[in-house]
Amino acid sequence: MMHRLPSLALLALACFPLLALAAPQDQSIISGPIHISDSWTWIDCGDPSDIIELHSIKVTPDPPQPGKNLTVAVTGYVRETIEEGAYADVTVKLGLVKLLQKEFDVCEEARNADASVRCPVDPGEYEVEQTVELPKEIPPAKFTIMVRGYTPEDEPMVCVDIKVDFMKKRPFPKIW
Ligand SMILES: *[C@@H]1O[C@H](CO)[C@@H](O)[C@H](O)[C@H]1NC(C)=O
Repeated sequence: MMHRLPSLALLALACFPLLALAAPQDQSIISGPIHISDSWTWIDCGDPSDIIELHSIKVTPDPPQPGKNLTVAVTGYVRETIEEGAYADVTVKLGLVKLLQKEFDVCEEARNADASVRCPVDPGEYEVEQTVELPKEIPPAKFTIMVRGYTPEDEPMVCVDIKVDFMKKRPFPKIW
């Protein structure tokens, strides 16, 4: 079903807020599930020395629903200036099958998305919010979105893995 791939790219774009932000203070948290809900989880897989430290990721609605707008709000700390040329490798998998792997220019994506944060991004705390329309035809399956961000000098910048389970039953209206 090749025609589905471009729509799935939208899912990957849902992660862009992740790249534009970040924050370190709790250096003791190195990795491990930080958020667990029924239908999705995220893990900061970066090192404490990475330029971006993620604090929280919130999605609305939670759980995400195919065919609806999804707003992703990310908070984090930027430790060093993020310069033009920063990039991110985004991989989207459906189960074990790789659907998409693409390199994105982080600063350019932020400009195109009209994001509130623009490069160069000065050190500090950030909260970034981005809305994407999720395609209706997202199959009921488990997706993994892996984001690996790098500085223009190829130093690790941010690392996050997001798992979304669209197999969970959609909310069912209560009729009694
Ligand atoms: C998503 O948001 C955009 C912009 O606010 C709006 O034009 C669009 O109709 C929304 N889509 C859905 C499915 O609600």
